[in-house]
This record gives sequence, structure tokens and C-alpha cells, in this order.
Amino acid sequence: MSSSFFLRNGRSVFSIISGGRRVTILLSGVNFTSRHIIDLSYSTHFMDFKGSSIPSSMKKLVVTKLSQNFRDAVALQTVPVPTPGDEELLVRNRFVGINASDINYTAGRYDPMLKPPFDTGFEGIGEVVGLGLSASARCTIGDTVAYFSDGAFAEYTLIPVNKSVPVPAVKPEFLTLLVSGATAYIAIKRLGDLAAGQTVLVTAAAGGTGQFAVQLAKHAGCHVVGTCSSSEKAGFLKTIGCNRPVIYTSEDLGATLRKEYPRGMDMVYESVGGATFDLAVNCLANKGRLIVIGFISGYQMATGIPAIRAGTLPVKLLQKSASIRGFFLPHFLEDYKAAIRSLTHLLSEGKLVCEVDCGDMAPEGRFMGLESVFRAVDYMYAGKNIGKVVVEVNSPSLDSKL
Ligand SMILES: NC(=O)c1ccc[n+]([C@@H]2O[C@H](COP(=O)([O-])OP(=O)(O)OC[C@H]3O[C@@H](n4cnc5c(N)ncnc54)[C@H](OP(=O)(O)O)[C@@H]3O)[C@@H](O)[C@H]2O)c1
Repeated sequence: MSSSFFLRNGRSVFSIISGGRRVTILLSGVNFTSRHIIDLSYSTHFMDFKGSSIPSSMKKLVVTKLSQNFRDAVALQTVPVPTPGDEELLVRNRFVGINASDINYTAGRYDPMLKPPFDTGFEGIGEVVGLGLSASARCTIGDTVAYFSDGAFAEYTLIPVNKSVPVPAVKPEFLTLLVSGATAYIAIKRLGDLAAGQTVLVTAAAGGTGQFAVQLAKHAGCHVVGTCSSSEKAGFLKTIGCNRPVIYTSEDLGATLRKEYPRGMDMVYESVGGATFDLAVNCLANKGRLIVIGFISGYQMATGIPAIRAGTLPVKLLQKSASIRGFFLPHFLEDYKAAIRSLTHLLSEGKLVCEVDCGDMAPEGRFMGLESVFRAVDYMYAGKNIGKVVVEVNSPSLDSKL
């Protein structure tokens, strides 16, 4: 026998499966037929049908073949809406975030043991529409939550309740904090060793995580140089406090740094890799720290790794007592909640800009619907985005807190 509670049109219904037959007990006067989705679970859980707004099936993106080419790797499928387990939430995704590493994940570079088919997408924000009994101790139907957890590229996603971050509203600004903001915050705090008056270089500065590195370094009292590929991006960087945007497509980055910053950079937040990494190593000041955040210039290659001048690294580091430090967000989860708290606080005080790019200026317009994730990945890899690339998966629900 299994049982479930759910709310429908504001009425409570208690449904029991017994001996293969459903008995629906009406708690407030009108009879409703319960839905099949409930029957699939052996655990007790709560579902919000909001007048049957949870469909029986949904769209999601599934990696069907390992490839760094997102379009080759991923298929749009129609599947049943899943039922939450005891400690899970069923979230109706309103917005999901695009990350440079989405193509590393589809190429199987994160977990070589993971074989297709598997779900994809790292982060989402939306409304809780179903939850397991244990999860109900911490959340309820209608709560707005954000999360950093696998499987976000779907209309509905199951997440462990302990990975949910309560948010006051389903706004894409909160989504920017989950991976991009948290990465910059924790990497700079743990590995940056920043002090006021120091000079910092941020590469891919106008992007999802770069924008936070720029602002957090400014908050630490540093002078910030940021690289970007267009004058629009340079304009944006100025608005968030970047002292010296360098448009590397029209300016020689190495020559500019040598001329304007002969003492070098005390810290580099480096996301591009390859030739940009080499240049960043060359511009380190004595005791400078270079944080390896990523190497996007290689992600579309078969190896995923752009070439660098590795042979000369030891001598360059020794000559400057400089260091290179790697950072990978999942290794710093003990710092995650505090980082989100601090970032949310800065945002609420108006001290943090969370720039969101939903593709309004993209050739085919705003990224709406799950199918536009493909376009959004292409857009990022064309270097077009200013701020965090975000896809609007579902329209607002009728009583959402938007
Ligand atoms: N270590 C971690 O835990 C962690 C977490 C999050 C992100 N990251 C890393 O942070 C970096 C940025 O990721 P994101 O998701 O925030 O992306 P993003 O910065 O929003 O977008 C990527 C940007 O990279 C720049 N870029 C430079 N060279 C490029 C190239 N060859 N191909 C494509 N883009 C290039 C482009 O800006 P311009 O055109 O202005 O140069 C582009 O807009 C990536 O390396 C990513 O792996 C690491």
C-alpha cells in the first residue's frame, strides 16, 4: 500500500493505493481524480497540482553521446515528470544557467565513469511543486528555491532538499550567484590573498564569473584590469568599477600590461587558458598569485586542453616567488553556504551587480524554452554574452513571486 497527500485547487486530498485499486478520500467536499504520477512512488510525498498545472510529461535535455559539441551530444526528449523521493524536491524550473563547462560535462570530462544517457545542466531557480515527506521539514509547496545540482536542463528537476537555496523571489539575478558568483567569491577569498592597493587582472572579465571577480576585487580595495572582446563589454566593465578594461581584439594585451603595469599583477583570475595564460604568467608581480579558474579557449578542442608554455613555468615562478593555484568549486562546498549568504547580502544592499544575459540581443532573440539552451551555448562560445547567460525555461506560474 502507498499513500500521498496533495493540494488541488486549495483542497486537501488523501489518496491510498491498496490492492491495486485507488481510493481517493475527499477532505473538503469535492471529488477529484488523482493522477498517475502519485502512484509511482513508494514514499509519502506532497504534490501541488495548481489546477492540474503539473503535466504528466515534460521536456528535458539528455546527453546521448559523449562530445564537446553540445549539439552533437545532447538530445531534447519528452519524459514523464518525475516523482520526488523522501528527501527530494520537485522544482518547476523558471530559469537555468549556462556555464562554459556544460560542454566539458557533455564530453564526459567531469566524471569518466558517467556513460550516456545522463542528465545535464548545473543550476536552476524555480518553484517547489512537489516534495518528499522528510523534505517537507525544510520546505513547502510554493517555496522559491535556487540550486546547484545536476539535471537542471529540464522543465522540472528533482533535487536533494539539502542542495536547495531559499530565495525571496524567482529572479535570474539569484541564479548568477550559484556557480559564477560563488566561484569568484570562494576562489578570491581562499586563494587570492588580496590586500587593499593590490593590482588584479581578470580575464573574460565581462562574463558570468568574471563580472563577480571584478567587483569582489574592487570591494577588497584593489585596482582591477579586465580583458574582454568588444567595446560594449568594456563599457559594461566600467559600470562595475573595472579600472582598465582591455579590449584584446583591438589592443595588444601583453604590450598594454608591460607598458601600464610594469610592476605586474598581484593576482590573476584566469579563465581563458592557452596564450592568455602564458601572458598572465609573464605579467605576475613578485609573489603574485595566478588562480586557474578555467581554460575556455580549449574546451571545444578534442583534448579540452589548450597548449601553454609549460617548460618555462618553474623558472618563471621561482624568479618571482609567484604561484599558480587551481580552483574547482565542488572542492570548496564547505564554503558554499557562507559564500551565497555574503553574495545575497551584497546584492540586497545594492553593492553587487548581477548582470544577466537572456539573449535579448541574440540574432534569434531571447532564450525562451528548453530548446533555446542550444542557442545559448553557441552564443556563449561565440563570446557574445555580457554577464551570465540565462535561459527562461518556463513562463511564470500564475501565483509566482515574480
Ligand atoms: N573552476 C570552477 O569551479 C569554475 C566555475 C565556474 C566557471 N569556471 C570557468 O570560468 C570561465 C568562464 O565561465 P563562464 O561560465 O562564466 O563563462 P562566461 O565568462 O560567461 O562566457 C565565456 C566568455 O569567455 C570569453 N572567451 C575567451 N576566449 C574564448 C574562447 N576561445 N571561446 C569562447 N569564449 C572565450 C568570452 O568573453 P570575451 O569575448 O570577452 O573574451 C566569453 O564571453 C570558464 O573557463 C569556466 O570553465 C570555473
